[in-house]
Formats: sequence, C-alpha cells, structure tokens
Amino acid sequence: MKNELIFKHRINVTQPKLPDYGMYTELLKEVWEKKWLTNDGPLHERFREQVRDMLMVPQAELFTNGHLALEIALKALDLTGEVITTPFTFASTTHAIANAGLKPVFCDVDPITYNIDATKIERLITPDTSAIVAVHVFGTPCDVFTIEAIAKKHNLKVIYDAAHAFGVEINGVGIGNFGDISMFSLHATKVFHSIEGGLLTFKDESLSPILKSLKNFGITSPESVDYVGTNAKMNEFQAAMGLCNLETVRNDIQMRGNVYQAYVEGLKDLVSVQLLPQDTAVKANYAYFPIVLRSHEMRDRLFEVLKGYNVFARKYFYPLCNDFSCYHTSSKETPIAKGISDNILCLPMYADLEIADVKQIAEIISFELGEHLE
Ligand SMILES: Cc1ncc(COP(=O)(O)O)c(C=O)c1O
Repeated sequence: MKNELIFKHRINVTQPKLPDYGMYTELLKEVWEKKWLTNDGPLHERFREQVRDMLMVPQAELFTNGHLALEIALKALDLTGEVITTPFTFASTTHAIANAGLKPVFCDVDPITYNIDATKIERLITPDTSAIVAVHVFGTPCDVFTIEAIAKKHNLKVIYDAAHAFGVEINGVGIGNFGDISMFSLHATKVFHSIEGGLLTFKDESLSPILKSLKNFGITSPESVDYVGTNAKMNEFQAAMGLCNLETVRNDIQMRGNVYQAYVEGLKDLVSVQLLPQDTAVKANYAYFPIVLRSHEMRDRLFEVLKGYNVFARKYFYPLCNDFSCYHTSSKETPIAKGISDNILCLPMYADLEIADVKQIAEIISFELGEHLE
C-alpha cells in the first residue's frame, strides 16, 4: 500500500444524482394541489412525453421499475418456449425471462464488447425458440444489425435490455429504436433515474393498450380484466424526479465522459488491464467503467486492496446468471463469458466524481499491479 494515495473519504462505485431540491419540491406542489399521486397522473404524462422525445423513439410507457417493465414486455409479446439470452447480465434479465414462463437459453458473449455474440445465436435456435433477449451491457450497443437479420430469418422477436443504455445512439439513431421492445432502467444508480423506474420503448403503437393494462392488474375497462396483470405503475413522485433529472442529463453524460477519458488516460498503458473499446459510430453514455484483469486472482486481490484505499469497486457481473443455483445450468457452456466475469471489476463512475480522484484511483491501480511508471 502507498499511504499517500489512501482517500480520506469513501469512494463508492456509484453515487445517485440528486436534482436541485427547490426544483423537485416545486413540482411536488402540483401533486398536493391536484391530489393525484399515481395512475397516469399529469407529471407521469409530462415525463412520458419528454423522455420519449429525449430518446428519439416513437412510443414509450413508464413503469415502477425496469425489472417489471421487462417482464411485462415479454408477456405482451406473447412469447412461448425458449428465449436466447446472455449470461453476462444482472439477475433481473434472466429472472424476467423465467418469471414470464420462458426458458432462458444462454449464448456466449463477445470477448471485446461483453455483449451476446451474435455469431453464436443461430446454432442455439430450435423449433421452440420464440425470441432473443439481448443486453446492451454497460451501455455498449449489441450487434443490432446482425441480431435483426437473424430474427427476421427465423421469425423471432427481439427484446433489448437497455437498462444501462439511456441516451446511447448508433449513428444518430436512439438505441431504443432497435428490436421489438427496449427496456431502460431508471433506477437511482443509473445514468438517468426517477428514484426507481422503468421505461419501455417500441415502434408498434398497437402494443400500448396491453402494456398499459398489464401494469395495472390486467384491467382493460372499468368492468373488464382481460390479462393476468400485475401492479407496475410509476407514481407522481418518481415522475417528478425523472422530470428534474431530465433537465441535467445531457450535462451529466458530458461530465461522465470527462471521468471516462481521465480513466482511459490513466490506465491505457497498463498491460494487465483490458478496457472497453470506444466506437466512433456510437454516442456513449459512460454508464460504467469496467476493467478486465489478466486473472481471477489478480481481480480479487485488486478488489480487496482497493478497499484499503477507501475505493469500493464492484465485481459486476459476477457470478454469471448461468451459475445461479436456481437455473441448474453451467457457465462451462459459455467460456468467454466465464473468463470475463471471473476477471472483471467496475471502477467508481458517476458524474460528480472528481477528475483528481480518478487520476488517484488510476495511480493506485498502476502501483498495485506493479506497473507504476515513475
Ligand atoms: C442489466 C439490467 N437489467 C435489468 C435491471 C433491472 O432494473 P431495475 O433495477 O430498474 O428494476 C438492471 C438493474 O440494475 C440491470 O442492470
């Protein structure tokens, strides 16, 4: 340990963005005046329109969180049987598939982007396959064009878990325009949030009524319930937070970009560290800063040693979903994903992280990996 590099304050992997307090309470006055707390209130509707415009998508529906939004998306598309997906994701993706009564079939990932390897999808398709659920991991877009071609050829639906990808664009096209439905998480830890929250974007307007119904107990009219729905409605307090954070999200992403570049500068010459590539066709949102180390032991040691410096990184995503005991599957089937999951560490990343702190974290890592350049 190098004592002079120990932080006096704790640096967490993320820190939620809080808007101006006065701006938030000003919006809450409207809630008190109208006494409308949930069920498609006026703030909910205002937020829905503004977020739809921001993401440049034709249709958007809001939900209480991203997980239930994803479950509802899968149910609304009336899928059956098997769904091809990635094991390198948060538990939510796989659980949503299982909770929708579907069987997750795990496909290995790309060693550079950590996203589902589109070239390995076709070999997993069987007569029971009905969809592909791909994840834009860490905000890096999947190979959307290859996935679209495979889906077209085999008549499969495509659902993107875009939980990490708020604000990402490919060649100027909002990421929420790809596939049949995309899900964005608006959880407090994300680039953009509404405390808890979820958003589905889609092109087919005819999906709106079923999505609205499924999040409200399957109710379709005052005297009819046509689906086995759930309760996944976004309330006015969440919508107010979302409206406030929308005001600053572009600036927040720019600040994250500065943090990102400072990390790249500090780490790019280390031979033990693999960084995500930056693609000029992609407008990134700098949601996470993952590094992949050369071995599992090196990752675990760095994770522990960083704590001593008051830096709290995260083993994200580890373990893999196909190693969860509830799925009775094995990561032996997905060796690339296994290697990444075993060796990955997400470093602290948020808009307000000081550039000097980023440089210090990079210096600690260089020192601890024995790659310190004097
Ligand atoms: C990849 C992924 N999918 C789904 C979710 C679930 O989103 P939420 O927390 O909004 O329910 C998350 C949340 O952290 C996630 O990281």
